[in-house]
Amino acid sequence: MEASPPAQPILVPVLEVPAPQAVGQLAFWNDAGSPQMPIREIASAEMVRERVAGLAHEIAGELGGEPLTLAVVLRGAFVFAADLARELIANRMENLLITFFHASSYRGTKAWRAPVIQELGELSSDGRQTVLIIDDIVDAGHTADAMIRRLTSPKRRVEYCSLLDRPEAREVPVHPRYVGFRLDGPGFVVGYGLDYDDKYRELPYLAQWLPSLPTLG
Ligand code: IMP
Ligand code: MG
Repeated sequence: MEASPPAQPILVPVLEVPAPQAVGQLAFWNDAGSPQMPIREIASAEMVRERVAGLAHEIAGELGGEPLTLAVVLRGAFVFAADLARELIANRMENLLITFFHASSYRGTKAWRAPVIQELGELSSDGRQTVLIIDDIVDAGHTADAMIRRLTSPKRRVEYCSLLDRPEAREVPVHPRYVGFRLDGPGFVVGYGLDYDDKYRELPYLAQWLPSLPTLG
C-alpha cells in the first residue's frame, strides 16, 4: 500500500552521504577539527530554508484548494513540520489542522523492522479528506508504510512529504510524493530534528554523522 507516486517527475536536490572511511590518523572529521562533534555539514541552514520554502510552494500548488490536515511523525520531523507549516501559511494554505503521531523504529543506527505507531490525540473528522504525512526521512520505508496503512481510508486522500529520502535503502515500496532532499549513499544524517541517540536535533543545518573509525595505521 502506498501514497500515489508523482504525476510528473519533480527535481529533487541530491545530498551525498558516502560510507565513512578511515583516512590517515582520523576518520572524516568536521571542519573545525573537533573530536567532540564528528559530523560534516551537508546542507546549510539557508539551503534547508530555501528547500522547505520550495516544497511548500509545490504542496500549495497541488493541494492548495483543499482543507488540509498535517500528520506529523515524531520525533524527527518536529523542526521540519514547524517550518513547513509556516511556509504553507505564506503560500495561503491557512486553517491547517496539525496532528501528531509517535513512531519508534530506531535505536542508535539500528532499525526495528516493525515500527510502533502511536496516535497522540485523534485525527479530527471535521470533513477534511486530505492528510499530508510529514516525516523526517524515508529509509527502509517501514515507518512510511505503517503510517500510510494507519491513515488510509476510502474517503481520504493521503500524501507523503519527507524532508529526506534514501531510496537505495528501501525494503518496502513507498514513494513519498514530496521530498526535500534525496540522499545518495548510506551515511547517517543528523540535525534539523534528526538525531543520533537524541543528540544533534537542535542543529539548524543537516550533517552527516561520522563514527570514530579505527585509524589506517
Ligand atoms: P524506515 O522506517 O526504515 O524508513 O526508517 C525511518 C526512520 O528511521 C526515520 O523516521 C528516522 O527516525 C530513522 N532514520 C533512518 N535513517 C536515518 C538517518 O540517516 N538519520 C536519522 N534518523 C534516521
Ligand atoms: Mg522518523
